[in-house]
Amino acid sequence: MSMTKQVFPEFPEPSLQVTPLDEHECVSALLACSSLSDLRRESVINSAIELVKTCRSQSHKAGTLDAFLQEFGLSNKEGIALMCLAEALLRVPDDETADRLIAEKLSSGDWGSHQGRSDSAFVNASVWGLMLTGSIVSLDKSITKDTGAWMRRLGSRLGEPVIRAAVLQAMKIMGGQFVLGRTIKEAMKRTNKAWNKGARFSFDMLGEGARTAADAERYFESYKSAIDAIIQKRAGQGTVQSDSISVKISALHPRYEERQADRVMNELYPRLLALAECAKAGGVGLSIDAEESERLLLSMRLFQALAQASSLQGWNGLGFVLQAYQKRALAVCHWLAALAKESDRVIPVRLVKGAYWDREIKHAQELGLQDYPVFTRKCHTDLSYQVCAETLLSYSEEIYPQFATHNAHTVALILECAGPEQTFEFQRLHGMGHLLYEALGYKHPNIPVRVYAPVGKHRDLLPYLVRRLLENGANSSFVNRFLNAKVPPHELVQDPVILTQQQDEYRHKKLPVPQNLYAREAQPWRNAAGLDLQDRAHYSVFADAFTRRQRTRSESLPAQAKQAVDAQILTVLSPADTARELGRVVSARPEDIDTAICAAQAAQGGWDRAGADVRAKVLETFADKLEAEIFDLSALISLEAGRTLDDAVSEVREAVDFCRYYASQARRLFGIPTVLPGPTGEANTLVWQGRGVWACISPWNFPLAIFVGQIAAALVAGNAVIAKPAEQTPLIAQKAVAMLLESGVPRSILHCLVGDGAVVGKALVEDPRIAGVAFTGSTETAQLINRALAAKTGPIVPFIAETGGINCMIVDATALPEQVVDDVMVSAFQSAGQRCSALRVLYLQEDVADTIISMLKGALAEWRVGYPWLPESDMG
Ligand code: FAD
Ligand code: 2OP
Repeated sequence: MSMTKQVFPEFPEPSLQVTPLDEHECVSALLACSSLSDLRRESVINSAIELVKTCRSQSHKAGTLDAFLQEFGLSNKEGIALMCLAEALLRVPDDETADRLIAEKLSSGDWGSHQGRSDSAFVNASVWGLMLTGSIVSLDKSITKDTGAWMRRLGSRLGEPVIRAAVLQAMKIMGGQFVLGRTIKEAMKRTNKAWNKGARFSFDMLGEGARTAADAERYFESYKSAIDAIIQKRAGQGTVQSDSISVKISALHPRYEERQADRVMNELYPRLLALAECAKAGGVGLSIDAEESERLLLSMRLFQALAQASSLQGWNGLGFVLQAYQKRALAVCHWLAALAKESDRVIPVRLVKGAYWDREIKHAQELGLQDYPVFTRKCHTDLSYQVCAETLLSYSEEIYPQFATHNAHTVALILECAGPEQTFEFQRLHGMGHLLYEALGYKHPNIPVRVYAPVGKHRDLLPYLVRRLLENGANSSFVNRFLNAKVPPHELVQDPVILTQQQDEYRHKKLPVPQNLYAREAQPWRNAAGLDLQDRAHYSVFADAFTRRQRTRSESLPAQAKQAVDAQILTVLSPADTARELGRVVSARPEDIDTAICAAQAAQGGWDRAGADVRAKVLETFADKLEAEIFDLSALISLEAGRTLDDAVSEVREAVDFCRYYASQARRLFGIPTVLPGPTGEANTLVWQGRGVWACISPWNFPLAIFVGQIAAALVAGNAVIAKPAEQTPLIAQKAVAMLLESGVPRSILHCLVGDGAVVGKALVEDPRIAGVAFTGSTETAQLINRALAAKTGPIVPFIAETGGINCMIVDATALPEQVVDDVMVSAFQSAGQRCSALRVLYLQEDVADTIISMLKGALAEWRVGYPWLPESDMG
């Protein structure tokens, strides 16, 4: 079976560890590499303090945004309300929704508390009024002084067109802080004056994360025409000195991901090459922006291909952006230098700290990765930046360093590290850092400073805007406290080496590794370990698991089959390839059902008395085994149930989570008996115990997770279990049961009976000895079971049924279309839509329906349907 395709045969894999592990190890290595003496680091601090003081003395020149963030930011309700508004308002096409959004965001919050605290025209809301509304809220003196009253008055008039226009205007101003123009022409016009005075620019055409081929085409065209414009107007000073372009690769293809590496190579790479060839021909530079960490290796392979392309030889304008917050950053510095040497070029390297930190942390937690790809402490990012800077500067023949920062300490550090002959430049983002670089310019007028200049329309601004707002609003960020006179300069500017050495714990204590996320709950449990399928090192491990599974097929007929008659033997085929026989199983006869129930009933009391802790430990042992066999189990799930690798992996994780969570809950509920009130003096004690023998009947669409979830709950509560898996997926069920037995569940307590629902399932449900039924499947069957149980004489039998439903999603115009499309794709089409929680009906507000439907169609066109076990398949 071919599991993986050979992709990128012509480019060797950069030898870089994919999952960087221990923060302590990384930081120790960085400390060992840092060569700045104590004295020199002290001198950095002093220069940085000087810079801060100079800037603060000029703070009247601070921009609108600096003032805004100083007053609002992310640390108060009002700041968040304004940022939410900024994020959503401009894309709302209809007035009614816009009004309701404004009302929702502005009617909450204590606006009065910001009254008069800022000198800024923008921030002082009364003057905002002028800017926003002209004359709608009369701006007499008393109101100008009373921001709260102004806001209340504004609130009472929400819904009026003029308020809407006013707030829209304010939001445009805020967005406009970060964008130089809607078109490259406009942006160039705005920068002409500064350019004539010697400023350099790197234009970034807004737009990233294309979801459709049409978006990718649009972004490609906008990059292409921007390069042409830069060549026409801003080239000629030499590749390094001229203005340049910054490109986000995710804009150029809707599937810029490791699992689609063949498409990346065949479709995306030629586009990138074409842009680079244009830039080279016109003598301007092109830099590849750094995006999410799981794309690092893919971007390195693309970059390597470009560096080695014959058409790009002899051009020193091919630039790479390196994020210091990634634990792999230092290794990438060395890799870049080696590549430069090998391809006989100088590589411009923009060193940044990184703009996706919050997302990296959340993503790693969600996937249950072994550790984070980024540092968890700010001083580690700073230390990494320092060591990477020292390293890049040491490769003076191979690298042209471009230091991008708005931090005065980082600027001072670079000045200290760079020798007098060293060529390098600083970079800042448009709308940020101008005070700092102005202050630097007084002393070092000859060091070039390049401004990163985003260009584009509002519809493409949002991801960029949100990153900037997070960056400026975060209390860990330098710019957030830069001009705040309450923060003394020596507190703002601290030496990362000392900070790192002083801490007693390397990892941030609020960021345990993803597997320990729930370690601090009252009943802690370990988060299921997961895999990142963007890490292609896993593909060959999966391939081996599939090969192993194929080999075990012939042995899979159990011993009892020798006595089985032909009619009892069921052949299991893969639904994705029915010529593929996966194994054979023997279906249960009536006497097998009877024997199982008898044995289970006899043993249940002992299992119940063994206590919750014993049973919880068994489940935990089982969970560990599931985790350890995630590749083999996923291979079997994929083959037997036709599930993609993603689905299969998340299914194993779900099974693990069930076991650990139920174990923790069982300890809580089944532990010490609860003493209840005794109103008449009697003693009442609540004790939880098993009910007897449960029948667990599960479906094929989650053949491991639901199967295990039902059984684990019943077992841990002290019951015996007769499990009946779906007819289509008995192999994974038998495997799970075998593992449960190995983990310590007594053989007589758990029985797996394979067979037809109408025969085996029915017999189980009707048996008077069954004390409870757990069922997941169709509503029809649930009703049959319900009636069968109701018809029984004897005690009432509890019935837990989880059936399908019609799930809807309602989308209004405030939603970001890309996010809607991502969520619809996952909800409706992941697991091939075969889940009871799948999205079946999508309601779209009419004003945005056409846009979203066409984006959805475009995104669907990019999905790959194929053998589920191939990494590139989105749907089996
Ligand atoms: P500082 O405030 O000193 O540092 C902020 C950094 O610390 C951030 O990276 C933040 O994530 C990190 N941090 C905060 N808390 C922690 C913590 N607890 N643990 C670890 N780290 C933490 N970014 C990209 O990702 N890709 C790009 O291509 C890119 N291009 C850029 C181009 C230019 C010209 C500039 C100026 C910036 C660019 N950036 C890019 C954004 C850049 O990453 C941020 O502006 C930068 O991180 C801010 O660093 P600083 O030195 O100004 O601020
Ligand atoms: C970003 O887009 C500037 O590339 C950086 O956040």
